[in-house]
Amino acid sequence: MDSILVTGNGPLNGQIPIAGAKNACLTLMPATLLSEEPLTLTNAPRLSDIKTMTLLLQSLGAEVSSLQDGQVLAMSSHDLISHTADYEIVRKMRASNLVLGPMLARLGQAVVSLPGGCAIGARPMDLHIEALEALGAEIELKDGYLHAKAPSGLKGAVHEMRFASVGATENMVMAATLANGTTVLKNAAREPEIVDLVECLRKMGAQIEGEGTSTIEIQGVDRLHGATHQVVTDRIELGTYMLAPAICGGEVELLGGRLSLVGAFVEKLNAAGIDVEETDKGLKVARKNGRVTAVDVTTEPFPGFPTDLQAQMMALMCTAEGTSVLEERIFENRFMHAPELMRMGAQIDVHGGTATVTGVEGLKGAPVMATDLRASVSLILAGLAAEGETVVSRVYHLDRGYEHVVRKLEGVGARIERIKSDG
Ligand code: EPZ
Repeated sequence: MDSILVTGNGPLNGQIPIAGAKNACLTLMPATLLSEEPLTLTNAPRLSDIKTMTLLLQSLGAEVSSLQDGQVLAMSSHDLISHTADYEIVRKMRASNLVLGPMLARLGQAVVSLPGGCAIGARPMDLHIEALEALGAEIELKDGYLHAKAPSGLKGAVHEMRFASVGATENMVMAATLANGTTVLKNAAREPEIVDLVECLRKMGAQIEGEGTSTIEIQGVDRLHGATHQVVTDRIELGTYMLAPAICGGEVELLGGRLSLVGAFVEKLNAAGIDVEETDKGLKVARKNGRVTAVDVTTEPFPGFPTDLQAQMMALMCTAEGTSVLEERIFENRFMHAPELMRMGAQIDVHGGTATVTGVEGLKGAPVMATDLRASVSLILAGLAAEGETVVSRVYHLDRGYEHVVRKLEGVGARIERIKSDG
């Protein structure tokens, strides 16, 4: 298993290009199942999760071609041969469950393995099931698989979700595009990735209003046609790299970044003493003087502070002046980066969903272990600011969500390299 060696060496300066959003691409790809005509995605990120989704769609009979070094995905689901999403694939990536809604809508049946837990939580699917049952689907759990069917098609309905689940919103919206009649989804998630999905579905002929708000209305149509869609910029990659100059000092421009994608996050960076300026090419981030100031953070559904940036923000707070309280309200176990940061000298006290961080003058490089995607990159950020060498192991987690992380950080002056190992 490869590892990454980071050596702390002071301020960073330059530009980092931000890729297309992993979490948008992972819901846009299953949308191909809704139509017999080709769906092409541009600005797709080059990530292992995208390869996993490609394999899943191909196992269902879809054609998926990765073109232009992986930045274009040309897909066609004209002849589907299966409606089963196998455990072997789903267990590796929870987002595989996003084929459930489209398959139900297109084929009237779907068999999708429950994803099983992952490092950050149990990841149940009750909200997906309730939403699709509201459309008339019959879903039962057997041998670890969800067996869903809608023999006489799906029927539009009014449904209020108990929690604004991103994935359940995506499954519901995709299924409702081909349902008979009108669907009104209340307490819908408002993430930019959902707005991007709706914009793509609209290009395919879907009739949808209200994306980005808590109420989304979908008028079912008989069929959807093909389209070409550009994947929205990845706001989590954007926020992650905004923290590089914040934790090291210097000034970095994040190409493709927009304030609208990271509003709540930028408010916290400003409060910590970091300047963020929107340019015609992206977002320019600078920390000009001294240590950042500790701020409190609570993760919430969009437009609140994103849970996917909590681990990275904790790394910054480890070096801040003062004490920061970070409350993780979305997932039940998303502080696994804390013990690893403590190996680098961080002072963190974790109680349930709350981590109290007392900032220290400087972190010390150390061997640390990545436990999940966002934890892995928070350790790299800490290593950039630490004195000495940090070796982050198990970087396969990183490859799921960050393309060319070494090249992008080297490009702004970081001392970072990937250590190959055949293990
Ligand atoms: C999406 O996961 C993202 N993944 C996650 O990003 C992100 O952290 C999460 O949304 C929250 O923003 C993709 O888009 C592929 P949820 P999702 O359904 O859809 C509970 C990353 O790092 N829940 O909004 O699975 C759930 O357990 C990943 O890129 C239920 O209880 O998130 C969690 O506690 C990690 N029942 C909370 O809701 C359900 O049926 C939020 O889950 C569904 C979810």
